[in-house]
Amino acid sequence: MIKKDDTMERVPTGIKNLDDGMMGGLVRNSINMIAGGPGSGKSIFAMQYLVNGATKYNEPGVYITLEEGKDNIMKNMNSFGWDLEKLDKEIKVSIIEISPTDIQLEVHKQVEKLESQIINKLKAKRIVIDSMTSYSLLFKSELVLRASYLNLFKMLRNWKLCSLLTSEYDIEGHKVTPLDFEVDSILWIYNSKIKGIRTRSLEIFKMRGTKHTTKTFPMQIKDNNGIIIYPAQNIF
Ligand SMILES: Nc1ncnc2c1ncn2[C@@H]1O[C@H](COP(=O)(O)OP(=O)(O)OP(=O)(O)O)[C@@H](O)[C@H]1O
Ligand SMILES: [Mg+2]
Repeated sequence: MIKKDDTMERVPTGIKNLDDGMMGGLVRNSINMIAGGPGSGKSIFAMQYLVNGATKYNEPGVYITLEEGKDNIMKNMNSFGWDLEKLDKEIKVSIIEISPTDIQLEVHKQVEKLESQIINKLKAKRIVIDSMTSYSLLFKSELVLRASYLNLFKMLRNWKLCSLLTSEYDIEGHKVTPLDFEVDSILWIYNSKIKGIRTRSLEIFKMRGTKHTTKTFPMQIKDNNGIIIYPAQNIF
């Protein structure tokens, strides 16, 4: 285990072995990305970050979905033992569905509405945006897209949230994108075929301003648990 660094306040993911590998958790008020292929476990990881935040650390969270609908997300996460309906009622984990066209048509209105909802009503400390891949499809030119990332990041930092963005990657053939440079940290989920069996693992690929383990963690998705990370070791 890497020793905790006292100079930076941490936001634990609540996934113990992972937090131990990054000196206690994500850095407070940072922008983090979880990336991986289809079905690798990005959305489950992101929801677990919020559920743990609400239930273990008393930090309300907001899940902004640009892809799956709220009902679908709740249904898909049912098997992990998270009572999302209760957490929603108690304003501890709120799922906000935004259609990509909503954003495109009325950016300013949407942002104002979100600000009053997220900061004043929900008093959120954690936020998930699922996914940045959908978000980036809204912008036609690279220049406009980069400017929009900067605006979004400025807003998230002003709101003093610890953010987790999901991003679709083909890790093996991935070409570096501007987003990779702009976020503070990147976690990668691999879903590789080893001897005929799909095997998940998670790597802390980048994390600004902090030491972290350079080993890849074996990872599983399990009923009643969600994501389980095993201590960093050689992949089984
Ligand atoms: N109860 C469960 N037990 C074990 N594995 C599960 C369970 N529920 C879902 N999974 C696994 O999780 C995967 C879906 O995870 P998730 O939705 O987080 O992926 P994702 O990376 O967000 O995918 P996408 O890019 O398609 O949005 C499924 O393909 C399945 O392999
Ligand atoms: Mg997903």
